[in-house]
Amino acid sequence: MKILLINGPNLNLLGIREKGIYGDLSFESYFPLLKARFPEITFEYFQSNVEGELINKLHEVGFSYDGVVMNAGAYTHTSVAIRDAIAGIKAPVVEVHLSNILTRESFRHESLIGPVCCGSIMGFGLDSYRLGVEALIGKVKPW
Ligand code: DQA
Repeated sequence: MKILLINGPNLNLLGIREKGIYGDLSFESYFPLLKARFPEITFEYFQSNVEGELINKLHEVGFSYDGVVMNAGAYTHTSVAIRDAIAGIKAPVVEVHLSNILTRESFRHESLIGPVCCGSIMGFGLDSYRLGVEALIGKVKPW
C-alpha cells in the first residue's frame, strides 16, 4: 500500500513556527515515528509552499497510489485549484490539520477542499497525520 503525505505552505516550519499552536516537533522528526508505526505501508512525503507544485504532486500520484493524507495549510481556505485537483484524481484524500480550525479565526472555518476529501481530521497535533493514515487504511480495505 502506497500513501503520499503532503504538506502545504509554511508546514516546513513545523517545530519553529507558532509553537503554541503547532507544537515543537518538526515533521522530519515525526515522520520516522509514523513510518515505524505502519511498517506495511510505503510512504512518500512531499512539502511545498507553491500551490502549483502541490497540484502537480497530486496529479503525479493520484492514479497510482492508494491514498493521500493532505495538510494544505492556508490553501485549505483559499484554493479552488487544489480542490479541483483532489476532485480530479482517483486516490482518496484525507484532509488533516494539526489545529482545530473551527476554534480559530473565522477565515479558517471554511475548508474549500473538505467537500472533495473522503474525510477530515483536525485538532490532534501531529497525531492528526496518524489518524489520517488509519482512516485511509479503513478506506481502501475491502470490508
Ligand atoms: C493548518 C491550519 C491552517 O489554517 C493554517 O493556515 C496552517 C496549518 C493546521 O494544520 O492546523 O498553515 O492547516
